Amino acid sequence: MESHPHEVLFVALIATFAIFHIAQAQDQEGFISLDCGLSPNEVSPYIEPITGLRFSSDAGFIQSGQIARVDKSLEATSLKSYMTLRYFPDGLRNCYNLSVNQGTTYLMRATALYGNYDGLKAFPKFDLYIGPNFWVTIDMQKYGDGQAEEIIHIPRSNSLDVCLVKTDTSTPIISLLEFRPLDNDTYITGLGSLKNFMRFYLSKSESIVAFPEDIKDRIWEPYFESEWTQISTTLKANNSDDGYFVPRNVLMTAAIPANASAPLSFTGELDSPNDELYLYLHFSEVQALRANESREFDILWSGDVVYEALRPEYLNITIIHSPPLTCEGGKCNLQLKRTKNSTLPPLLNAIEVYTVLKFPQLETNKNDVVAIKDIKATYELNRITWQGDPCVPRKFLWDGLDCNSTDTLTLPRITSLQREKAVKLLSPSSTQGYKEFKAEVELLLRVHHINLVNLVGYCDERDHLALIYEYMSNKDLKHHLSGLEYLHTGCRPSMVHRDVKSTNILLDEQFTAKIADFGLSRSFQLGDESHVSTVIAPGYLDPEYYRTGRLAEMSDVYSFGIVLLEIITNQRVIDQAREQSHITEWMAFMLNRGDITRIMDPNLHGDYNSRSVWRALELAMMCANPSSEKRPSMSQVVIELKECLRSENKTEGVDSYSSFEQSMSFDTKAVPSAR
Ligand SMILES: *[C@@H]1O[C@H](CO)[C@@H](O)[C@H](O)[C@H]1NC(C)=O
Ligand SMILES: *[C@@H]1O[C@H](CO)[C@@H](O)[C@H](O)[C@H]1NC(C)=O
Ligand SMILES: *[C@@H]1O[C@H](CO)[C@@H](O)[C@H](O)[C@H]1NC(C)=O
Ligand SMILES: *[C@@H]1O[C@H](CO)[C@@H](O)[C@H](O)[C@H]1NC(C)=O
Ligand SMILES: *[C@@H]1O[C@H](CO)[C@@H](O)[C@H](O)[C@H]1NC(C)=O
Ligand SMILES: *[C@@H]1O[C@H](CO)[C@@H](O)[C@H](O)[C@H]1NC(C)=O
Ligand SMILES: *[C@@H]1O[C@H](CO)[C@@H](O)[C@H](O)[C@H]1NC(C)=O
Ligand SMILES: *[C@@H]1O[C@H](CO)[C@@H](O)[C@H](O)[C@H]1NC(C)=O
Ligand SMILES: *[C@@H]1O[C@H](CO)[C@@H](O)[C@H](O)[C@H]1NC(C)=O
Repeated sequence: MESHPHEVLFVALIATFAIFHIAQAQDQEGFISLDCGLSPNEVSPYIEPITGLRFSSDAGFIQSGQIARVDKSLEATSLKSYMTLRYFPDGLRNCYNLSVNQGTTYLMRATALYGNYDGLKAFPKFDLYIGPNFWVTIDMQKYGDGQAEEIIHIPRSNSLDVCLVKTDTSTPIISLLEFRPLDNDTYITGLGSLKNFMRFYLSKSESIVAFPEDIKDRIWEPYFESEWTQISTTLKANNSDDGYFVPRNVLMTAAIPANASAPLSFTGELDSPNDELYLYLHFSEVQALRANESREFDILWSGDVVYEALRPEYLNITIIHSPPLTCEGGKCNLQLKRTKNSTLPPLLNAIEVYTVLKFPQLETNKNDVVAIKDIKATYELNRITWQGDPCVPRKFLWDGLDCNSTDTLTLPRITSLQREKAVKLLSPSSTQGYKEFKAEVELLLRVHHINLVNLVGYCDERDHLALIYEYMSNKDLKHHLSGLEYLHTGCRPSMVHRDVKSTNILLDEQFTAKIADFGLSRSFQLGDESHVSTVIAPGYLDPEYYRTGRLAEMSDVYSFGIVLLEIITNQRVIDQAREQSHITEWMAFMLNRGDITRIMDPNLHGDYNSRSVWRALELAMMCANPSSEKRPSMSQVVIELKECLRSENKTEGVDSYSSFEQSMSFDTKAVPSAR
């Protein structure tokens, strides 16, 4: 804790990596190794000759930034992967978008080596974020030419953003981005992620230890103090403790206090005195003890014993990890003190210290993010602000978006996508299409109901008009519909949808139906238009329209009746191959023939309660009555359908259509013909 670890680390990395050999091809499954700024002329992926790590170009994971090479003088002493970098002269926030496994513990490392790539000898300073949360400040003005930062973090979804954020006039840069999956049972915290503060192995060596010696690719720096004496072995220890796989060469040396009766001490100071620390202490006895010898010691934190009478086993790892610890006034003190019984002084092979980093900001609702990214991809919107989380942090809100992100406990939602000074506007009088488009947008921004699709946003660009609904996974139509009733009775002023048809009813994963496509909707109060200017799906259009030229609430009921018939029979609404081409004609014909079994969708294989199905059929025919006066209201429809569901739930198998037959008063002559 004497010096800032990352400063030491980078010098060591560059100076001493070369001593490694690729002893054996190590498994790199799940590794993400991006060499940022790799020239498109170079082969990707390639194997880093010294470490054997397989690096890929970062080009597919970021849409901004420019590429550069560090000063030639560094080439002889450094790894190939450090030679190139990506820098970000434009935009406040630039983000990598990586594909990860939700719930997996990752060691994530970002490395930035300046290497005077721009010839300006001006060290950059900037912030790194993970998703919407601050991770760390990269400050080469303070720590020198390069900085590597690590965090152990569990992603909350299958994609993860790593963002570079400009904080002053300097330009953010990045050289490497590396993700390593760790064993899920290792490095566990309560709340928060573990930011690496130091990882030392206690040795007078000058070599760092990393991949492939460390199969998890942790980087271990050598560290030694003048008050210590080194002891070592040439034998390999058993390092397979619960999935940590501390490298064996880290366990081959240990520090003991030079004064055998003194404790082994570590002291240090924290930059942020309130940080919580997690300690991982690695022990393995390197000396074969005689029968009359013993090495036993207590572990003390700030003077208090936190672990008693530890006896490290010969060539066998023991890992002690601490609960979260604090340092009084930012001053930390770790001591290993031999017990009275011990004939030998305490020993320590390696130490890791992490600070706890809480990530309080929730990411924007996943469906919203998918939708907005779809828009981005479809319209090839390569805006500089459209990177990372769309809504949060607030100061990096995407241009033109509005979000609801009032508190940190609920997921932020996108509430609108605005036109901007997302663009050339269509003149409102230029097309009818524009009017409908606008109607839908205005309506959807006003209404929210479980059975109405949520408008995620809209695009209004050149000749592209698009409405973006929340994503619906089941695109087919099924049952369960109360959205129309809501439009008619729950909205002030109430609405007529005017284009109810099965393809406008979308289904989500739970088969909750949602009505979409409000282009023809009108509020009653506003609805002074008397003509339907766009072709409404044939077969669904209220026959009264042909007489009156007006669409009203009851027109939706008619269309809905047709949809119901479609669901129950699985017949096409209009089928020229049938003698009775319109579904209502066909129904009347079948009913007159009394051929009831052929009416039902054969895919149901008779698996229904006849009574409730017939009630539904009756209801459908009432809705589809050519005379609007004879149709039920949407509220009645909902009550009746609920009633049907209740009787469907009852297992009594009584088949009785008598009430249906009696109440049928269907005039086949009035059925509109298809056009
Ligand atoms: C981000 O990455 C995920 C997973 O690879 C991918 O599905 C998505 O399209 C990417 N998004 C962008 C905006 O690149
Ligand atoms: C870790 O846990 C996640 C989620 O439970 C799982 O998908 C993943 O396979 C696990 N990884 C390992 C290495 O066990
Ligand atoms: C190595 O250590 C692991 C875990 O501590 C233990 O299960 C295993 O038996 C040990 N192997 C040997 C050869 O001692
Ligand atoms: C060795 O350590 C003991 C206990 O801390 C102390 O009393 C003693 O003075 C030390 N000896 C030397 C030579 O520093
Ligand atoms: C242990 O025994 C050896 C002889 O076998 C002796 O030289 C040594 O001093 C003893 N050590 C202690 C701590 O008693
Ligand atoms: C190593 O430690 C593990 C766990 O404490 C133990 O099960 C195993 O027997 C030890 N192996 C040896 C060789 O002592
Ligand atoms: C120290 O040794 C004595 C005698 O051998 C034993 O009774 C006692 O339990 C030991 N103390 C510890 C802490 O191991
Ligand atoms: C924003 O979210 C809060 C809290 O979840 C909610 O009460 C409020 O209605 C939302 N506002 C909008 C406009 O969606
Ligand atoms: C029908 O039964 C299911 C489960 O048995 C229940 O979840 C559902 O609410 C019932 N529906 C009605 C309308 O009673």
